[in-house]
Amino acid sequence: MSDVLISPPISARQSQVPAPIRLAVLASGKGSNLAAIASAIARGDLNATIQVVIYNNPEAGVVQKAAHYGIPTVLLNHRTFDSREALDQAIIDTVKAYQADWVIMAGWMRRVTDVLINAFPQRVLNIHPSLLPSFPGVRAVEQALAAGTKITGCTVHYVELVVDSGPIIMQAAVPVLPDDTPATLQARIQVQEHQIYPAAIAIAAATS
Ligand code: GRF
Repeated sequence: MSDVLISPPISARQSQVPAPIRLAVLASGKGSNLAAIASAIARGDLNATIQVVIYNNPEAGVVQKAAHYGIPTVLLNHRTFDSREALDQAIIDTVKAYQADWVIMAGWMRRVTDVLINAFPQRVLNIHPSLLPSFPGVRAVEQALAAGTKITGCTVHYVELVVDSGPIIMQAAVPVLPDDTPATLQARIQVQEHQIYPAAIAIAAATS
């Protein structure tokens, strides 16, 4: 018997590499988290593709960020829908049309309904600029400053019906400095957001 090790054929080796997860990113703002996720993918740190960016605000800077990475964009302007459920159904239709199966809310400033959550069980994620369960809802950075907390941060979590309430996947802490303004604190929180969002997506994918 020879001890020679024979590598499996290429096709067998390839089949051991998990297929990239396919993301749809929902964004309302400037899109720095989209860029962080896209560059993590480009570096090979996250095994995923961004199939589409859905945005609701025609002025959103995320459109330029998506164009930079060659990602298609779809505008779903919430003002043109009769209800939150109707907007969520249009999101579902778009996510499916672009063959994505994870919904990544990256600064999506709309409340979602069971319609969206139930369409992608355990596959809708959000990032929030505080250490949840502290300071849920809008103006989380201002809330932390007003409370006089000395540490805040950011959280990636699964989305449930109650805003900013779902199971936590990953958090990063950020110290509040004595002379912080909402802008300076938010800027330091965003540095951490850009680290943890791609990592949290990878954790969620690995445990799904
Ligand atoms: C982030 O700070 C996120 O925590 C909040 O919205 C902001 C989006 O920023 N939900 P960007 O558009 O990704 O730059």
